[in-house]
Amino acid sequence: MNFKALLPILFWPVASSHEHHARRAQSQDPIAADTASINNIPFSTRAYWMRRANAASAELASPCPFAAFGTVIVNHTDSSKGALGKLVCIGINENGRVGNPVLHGEIAAINNCSSILTNSAGSYNLTAGEALDAFAKLSIYTNGESCPMCASAIRWAGFREYIYGTSIDTIIEQGWGQIRISSLEVFRRLFDLSTQSGLIGPILANETDPLFAWQFDPAAPCPEGCARGRMGVCENS
Ligand SMILES: *[C@@H]1O[C@H](CO)[C@@H](O)[C@H](O)[C@H]1NC(C)=O
Ligand SMILES: *[C@@H]1O[C@H](CO)[C@@H](O)[C@H](O)[C@H]1NC(C)=O
Ligand SMILES: *[C@@H]1O[C@H](CO)[C@@H](O)[C@H](O)[C@H]1NC(C)=O
Ligand SMILES: *[C@@H]1O[C@H](CO)[C@@H](O)[C@H](O)[C@H]1NC(C)=O
Repeated sequence: MNFKALLPILFWPVASSHEHHARRAQSQDPIAADTASINNIPFSTRAYWMRRANAASAELASPCPFAAFGTVIVNHTDSSKGALGKLVCIGINENGRVGNPVLHGEIAAINNCSSILTNSAGSYNLTAGEALDAFAKLSIYTNGESCPMCASAIRWAGFREYIYGTSIDTIIEQGWGQIRISSLEVFRRLFDLSTQSGLIGPILANETDPLFAWQFDPAAPCPEGCARGRMGVCENS
């Protein structure tokens, strides 16, 4: 018997009920307001770490790098440093600095955390296996919604939470080239990994949006500490 020919008959009713659910899910796309306290973490704490992600570029490169994407990775289950949680590592987009096209801020931060967690002379000194497991307790904050490569990396890592600032729609509207798949869509298609990740955003977009607004809009103001240079690009002033 030709089993393949039977498949559509056998599975058609299932597919159609799945389609129905997919449509309903789309009508539930909105996610929590940015001021909501999710996982018992108040907005003020979210805002603190998002500002820290914004500040990562200034700390590691310049207050107005072209690719102003910054990431911080935080342990919110560790209160030894206070109620805000404990910073594990930071990262910024390193494409231009090291010539590696996949080093978006999120990937750079994940690399950085891995090396910090497994450094045998560092304070964690985890084995590779322990480091992999450690991500399930960590939250990743990134000031721009992740591209699908990074959103996938975030799910492979199994972060407890992923929090973004500027939405991918805004990034596209601002003129950035982008692969048009939202993080929500990437997360929606991941149901067979053993880990779960919360998705929260946009958070503090009123402060993250301007960091990405000047690159393709000559009328947009430069971030603080920068001014338009001779080529019209915002430069450290
Ligand atoms: C995060 O905090 C929890 C609770 O203190 C701790 O068990 C875990 O080892 C911490 N993980 C990292 C990577 O700091
Ligand atoms: C890695 O994270 C640490 C801790 O936040 C930070 O001091 C360091 O500059 C980061 N390194 C890179 C390459 O981003
Ligand atoms: C790190 O862990 C390894 C393996 O458990 C151990 O041999 C080593 O002494 C530790 N390093 C430090 C600095 O404690
Ligand atoms: C951005 O909005 C948040 C509330 O969502 C507010 O707390 C914050 O002060 C605003 N930032 C600026 C620079 O106005």
